[in-house]
Amino acid sequence: MDIEVVINEVLQRIRPTEEERTFVEGLMEELKSIANETIKELGLDVKHYFVGSLAKDTYLAGDHDVDLFLAFPLETPLEELRKKGLELGKAIAEKLDSYEIAYAEHPYVRAKYRRVSVDLVPCYDVKSWRDVRTAVDRSILHTQWVNEHLDGRNDEVRLLKRFLKGINAYGSEVYVRGFSGYLAEILVVKYGSFLEVLEKAGFILRQKIIDPADWLRKEPEIARKTVEREINENKPLIVIDPVDPRRNVSANLSWERYGIFYFKSAEFLEKPSIKFFFPPEKPWKNYLEVLRERKTILLTLVFEVPNMVDDLLLPQLERSAKGLEKALEREGFKVLGWNVGKTEKAFIMLELDRAERERIMLKPGPEFFTERGRRFYEKNEKVWIVGKRLYSEKRVKENAVDVVIELLEKGQVSLGRGIREAVKGANVLLNYVPKELEKETYLFLSREKWNLKD
Ligand code: CTP
Ligand code: MG
Repeated sequence: MDIEVVINEVLQRIRPTEEERTFVEGLMEELKSIANETIKELGLDVKHYFVGSLAKDTYLAGDHDVDLFLAFPLETPLEELRKKGLELGKAIAEKLDSYEIAYAEHPYVRAKYRRVSVDLVPCYDVKSWRDVRTAVDRSILHTQWVNEHLDGRNDEVRLLKRFLKGINAYGSEVYVRGFSGYLAEILVVKYGSFLEVLEKAGFILRQKIIDPADWLRKEPEIARKTVEREINENKPLIVIDPVDPRRNVSANLSWERYGIFYFKSAEFLEKPSIKFFFPPEKPWKNYLEVLRERKTILLTLVFEVPNMVDDLLLPQLERSAKGLEKALEREGFKVLGWNVGKTEKAFIMLELDRAERERIMLKPGPEFFTERGRRFYEKNEKVWIVGKRLYSEKRVKENAVDVVIELLEKGQVSLGRGIREAVKGANVLLNYVPKELEKETYLFLSREKWNLKD
């Protein structure tokens, strides 16, 4: 299909209609007066700002969550900002439909109003990066920067965001580690259009550094430190935040997600199709069939999720999966891959070459003529010598499930700190997963989960 035709069709679907715009604008007006009124009632010196894609007019049709930031004066102590910010958020939310408390760096209120999700986030009223004190403070500056630089290319951002969503590379949350909305906006500002960003997918990676606000000249010391730090951490891309030379906008972007973008951009330009933006759901079947075909074994640990945010939980799950992989390899199993995640409970899946291993394991000992050699000789039932060294063998557990349970009991697996006890109490399942994990399991075992090709 012709690229213009595809783009136009996609735009029809992602550009908000006049009706939606009117609704959103009305909503913002209402929220604004409710916020002002509540601030007055509580006698606070707080300003409110709309931020996020609504305030930048880069939201996708149907996806119009509101971010309303409650900005406190810089002199406010952090503790007070936390407390008063939450109070104010609640007071505003009381006038909306419903709400709950959500947790990030500090707690905030997530309300519902006319079926739209409204985040009420306390922050500092920063005028420059030098004022930034909490992770959310920059958002006000981001909104200003984008609104000053986007220059009417809002639909180009929408296209890029929808494309990134379609190829599964959108969102900077840890379970994606992809492109954030703000990064998409910066790329469009820098390279001019959706298509130009795609054409430069390889170029951008080779250039490595994007510095739209020229910080390397204006604040060379700080900006260079940022670049150095991010290079050392082997980041695929360094985008010096136009509003803060200390920050890499793409700090959470992984090589994996950039890789998808790299291949899919080229594929799209070669063979444009709407399916890049709106992919059909991947077909899936019974995971047991896949296991049979692959002649492999699936070991799954399922356990209660400790109460922590995804940003913290996921890295811990990954660390634990790596620990299990290492421990199992030491015990003679081959680990072909692993997968972690969370539904109601957390899970760690490991694909192994086999469920059973030999009942005995060779036990190499020290050189026979040493003190340790004598002890080895005394302690073991059968002992023999190969060259200078003593050898023996020991009986071991055969079954992978028993092996894992024993490893966990003996504390011989390196696990994520905050979930150590939870993993130790896991249910260990062999070639079986709970119903809600069946699709996930199929996608993992078939490698369709991250397969780049159709
Ligand atoms: N933000 C950021 N870095 C991130 C995530 C968020 O700087 N990794 C800030 C940006 O200032 C962004 C705001 O938080 O504008 C809101 O984040 P989010 O809702 O994730 O992005 P939006 O731009 O609103 O895009 P979307 O349409 O996906 O909601
Ligand atoms: Mg948003």
